[in-house]
Amino acid sequence: MASTIIQFKNVTKQYGQDPVVLDNVSFEIEKGKFYTLLGPSGCGKTTILRLIAGFTEPTSGEIFFNGKKVNDIPANKRQVNTVFQDYALFPHLNVYENVAFGLRIKKMKKSEIDKKVKEALSFVNLNGYEDRDIQDMSGGQKQRVAIARAIVNEPEVILLDEPLSALDLKLRYQMQYELRELQRRLGITFIFVTHDQEEALAMSDEIFVINKGKIQQSGTPNDIYDEPINRFVADFIGESNIIQGTMIEDYVVEFAGKRFACVDKGMERNEPIEVVLRPEDLEITSPDQGLIQIKVISQLFRGVHYEILGVDEQGNEWMVHSTKKAQVGMEIGLRFEPEAIHVMRFNESEEEFDKRLESYTEDESDGK
Ligand SMILES: Nc1ncnc2c1ncn2[C@@H]1O[C@H](COP(=O)(O)OP(=O)(O)O)[C@@H](O)[C@H]1O
Ligand SMILES: [Mg+2]
Repeated sequence: MASTIIQFKNVTKQYGQDPVVLDNVSFEIEKGKFYTLLGPSGCGKTTILRLIAGFTEPTSGEIFFNGKKVNDIPANKRQVNTVFQDYALFPHLNVYENVAFGLRIKKMKKSEIDKKVKEALSFVNLNGYEDRDIQDMSGGQKQRVAIARAIVNEPEVILLDEPLSALDLKLRYQMQYELRELQRRLGITFIFVTHDQEEALAMSDEIFVINKGKIQQSGTPNDIYDEPINRFVADFIGESNIIQGTMIEDYVVEFAGKRFACVDKGMERNEPIEVVLRPEDLEITSPDQGLIQIKVISQLFRGVHYEILGVDEQGNEWMVHSTKKAQVGMEIGLRFEPEAIHVMRFNESEEEFDKRLESYTEDESDGK
């Protein structure tokens, strides 16, 4: 078992009489992994980082660091460093002094500081930039200085608050790669914040999807992409078709006016549900070969695939990603495998969802 480094137990944060910012949040962070907090602006991501760093205290609940409660431990006594979105570098200091700053405050020996600063700069590929003014560094280079300044302190955890959002797309991809590599080499726990779902999927060992101060779902990128537990997650992560339907019985679901075999079970008979079908899981066929028929209302070429939008007889909209071309105005058929249908219950919590999934695997092992 990997060991837990940070734990939140029923943490709530509220400023004055304002609406609750974090609502009874519980989670565990394991040592040495890359975590991402993903969610729309204002959902509480930065607040979680500030609570971990000790810049603010929870209104209620407990925060543990290596098993010890740290609610009252000030920021400078925690083994945590933060990389801020705007880098927060000292503009009047050169690269070397920016990175050395924290070590000087700790009154470390000059020779020791020199060794550590050079090591940190080499980690972020900035050897030879020691004497440069911060103003003369590009956005990507400033980002690297900010990271060097965090790792030079050898913290147990590095918090990164949307560190890439100011960079242009190409540099952003490159820095995603570098950050991930850096985390692997250092073996330090990274907690990274973004509102960009692609970035989260590409970089993380574990993702926490957050909305309105609550963790909606946590898991590996694959778990979350393949088995979103509710409409918010399905909608926020990747593109989805979300269709209203009814769970007729175990393994039989009805939507778009038809019944289909599916792999889900454990709901009530005739329970109203929503199904998710990913656009890339739909195959285009002739109308009579299709399980569902749609009329194509628009088509865009996206480089690797066509993005086809259509509507079925019941008025549901369908997005399809296909290497085959369709024609606007034409009727086409759609085929999909039972495994492509993801059934979601209304208001199912992550805990209840996990329990239901566990019962599937138990059944499977029973059968063997
Ligand atoms: N110091 C503060 N005082 C009052 N409200 C705050 C304060 N800091 C954050 N908030 C509110 O808490 C909510 C979550 O903010 P934040 O954690 O910064 O979201 P995110 O980082 O996900 O965009 C927002 O509605 C924000 O206005
Ligand atoms: Mg924020």
